[in-house]
Amino acid sequence: MSPEKTRQKTGKKRITAKKPKAASGETLVAPGEFERAGFAAAFVFSRTRLRPKIALVLGSGLGAFADEFIGAAKIPYAEIPYFPQSTAIGHAGQLVIGKVGEVSVAGMQGRVHLYEGYTAKEVVFPIRVFARMGVKAVILTNAAGGIKREFTQGKLVVIGDHVNLQGVNPLTGPNDERFGLRFHDMTNAYDRTFREIVASGANNLGITMYEGVYAALAGPSYETPAEIRYLRTIGADLVGMSTVPEVIAARHSGMRVLGISCVTNAAAGIRDQPLNHVEVLETAERVKEQFIRLLKTVIPRIAEAIA
Ligand code: HPA
Repeated sequence: MSPEKTRQKTGKKRITAKKPKAASGETLVAPGEFERAGFAAAFVFSRTRLRPKIALVLGSGLGAFADEFIGAAKIPYAEIPYFPQSTAIGHAGQLVIGKVGEVSVAGMQGRVHLYEGYTAKEVVFPIRVFARMGVKAVILTNAAGGIKREFTQGKLVVIGDHVNLQGVNPLTGPNDERFGLRFHDMTNAYDRTFREIVASGANNLGITMYEGVYAALAGPSYETPAEIRYLRTIGADLVGMSTVPEVIAARHSGMRVLGISCVTNAAAGIRDQPLNHVEVLETAERVKEQFIRLLKTVIPRIAEAIA
């Protein structure tokens, strides 16, 4: 059915952003990633007066935090030019711009993943938009399987480093120097100061916080027990299907990164139980309050650190 017919049937008015048109006689050159991201950033800015320097990507079941932003503008991804649409359950699919205390933030309620069929470049498009918005720090959150024995269901873990096993990199192809260098450093990808801020914030709140290495696989199937044994051997403490492309793109543009995983399940083969996405969402729901309290304490201190 054509989009027009669908619209007639549902009675919903679809708001679409205007994309650049060629004036008559001009040759239309397809805009590159830098221009597309700039266009999307300008569109976002047309919807709010806030100019956030901190952006958050809220993973499976963790989007609730953005519902608490004050004076929020909510922009469905479908309305933002060139923005990818999230299809995963537990991902609302809107960008919320508002305030946490005195700090302006942009929060993505849901992200897109490679397993949805998106390319690595599409997966990181929102991060490119943040770069064009002048965002300085990105807080990436996710649901993850716990490989390390003490990373049991419901634990919150700060990501200290990662292993990219997704088989792709969002920076493959020609490099646009306006975003960053051809070969950029990943030594301190996860900002040390931010990690310390989280550790002390969690301590003040009485939340037990851990630190670990996150391994990213493409998914969507969960891992086999043999794969989990392999991941443990190579030094991974957590496993998931997201975050790593976004960290690579954020660091490419010099944005500082904080990564937090919510352990929603023990990784495959650790307990004698099959894995399922319902369990992932239920656990995220259970730790939501703790997670929100932590972010509320951490955000003002991150804002100070990047000022
Ligand atoms: N494996 C991969 N991704 C995940 C898991 C897991 O066990 N739990 C939540 N996301």
